[in-house]
Amino acid sequence: MLLFPLLLGATLLCLGSGSYQRPFYNGFYYNHVMNDKGDSHEKTAYFNGAKLVVETPKDPVYSFNGANVTLPCHYHYEPDLESKRKIRIKWSKLRDDYTKEQDVLVAIGKTSVAFGDFQGRASLRQAGRREASLVVSDLRLQDDGKYRCEVIDGLEDESNVVDLRLQGIVFPYQPPRGQYRLNFHEAEQACREQGAVVATFSQLLQAWSEGLDWCNAGWLADGTVQYPIRLPRKPCGGLHLAPGIRSYGQRHRHLHRFDVFCFSSTLRGEVVYLERPAGMTLEEAKQACQDAGAEIARVGQLYAAWKFLGLDRCDAGWLADGSVRYPIAKPRANCGPAEPGVRNFGFPRTGRFGVFCYKER
Ligand SMILES: *[C@@H]1O[C@H](CO)[C@@H](O)[C@H](O)[C@H]1NC(C)=O
Repeated sequence: MLLFPLLLGATLLCLGSGSYQRPFYNGFYYNHVMNDKGDSHEKTAYFNGAKLVVETPKDPVYSFNGANVTLPCHYHYEPDLESKRKIRIKWSKLRDDYTKEQDVLVAIGKTSVAFGDFQGRASLRQAGRREASLVVSDLRLQDDGKYRCEVIDGLEDESNVVDLRLQGIVFPYQPPRGQYRLNFHEAEQACREQGAVVATFSQLLQAWSEGLDWCNAGWLADGTVQYPIRLPRKPCGGLHLAPGIRSYGQRHRHLHRFDVFCFSSTLRGEVVYLERPAGMTLEEAKQACQDAGAEIARVGQLYAAWKFLGLDRCDAGWLADGSVRYPIAKPRANCGPAEPGVRNFGFPRTGRFGVFCYKER
């Protein structure tokens, strides 16, 4: 894959010349999500001499696409006390940029109401005394993120946060029209079409820590544009910068155009390779998958099969977006670079190849 030099204006390049910061490593996180006591996941509100304490796990809760998950939350009083009031519980989901919260569920006593996308999927688990855990079933990619468990006892109101992380993979995406063609809304659409969603900063950071190095800037879910660099080099922010996530900060969601980082989770189905002796055109490839009771695989499905199912095939195949790629789990001669990865031939106008099909189990 060619690494394009970043042909961006001087305003962007100056980010690479000394003013680079890790915008999300600073106090921002701690001020907004954690609390005044740093990373202690125990928050308190005082009233009548007793304090209300809400506890959530400090470590992230890991799950995967399609699974059911419980986000633990418990509360108690110090010193212990029987509250006569009816406790209200409210769960909300924090946005990546912490600007707004999305309502998930509210409950009073045994009655609860879930909202929006969580209707029919979210419920409260109150098995233990003073438990306020949230159960979400049939997890979706966009459920990944931080959730606030809020306990309201009369006027007292205390909350704490649970971090839900879906097992998944981040991949950079460029559309057939080429590099830096997507505004934010088109980027969302492009990921959706690949069976994925726009990645969050924490997903990109995780991918970077696992080895992702990509010298093209892409949109993230919070509207910032960033790219992950393991090996500092001149066209990718410069040699003098430490490895890390290079950030262009917030960009205009309509006017500015970049690539995108998409996030795709584990699969319920499988990806198989079909071939014909003479190869196939894209149209023939789509038909071949249909004839096999499957559909042509999307880019996110190929990445997920490579990462989670160890898919390894040293033959190029069509994908739904008209790109041609192949997944290598065990690098070897004549199968691309020395690192495992999904190799990309771009979007050939002509040519005959095999095809990757996706089949639900
Ligand atoms: C999730 O829970 C629902 C019931 O709420 C159940 O029908 C379903 O089988 C569960 N799914 C998994 C993957 O455990």
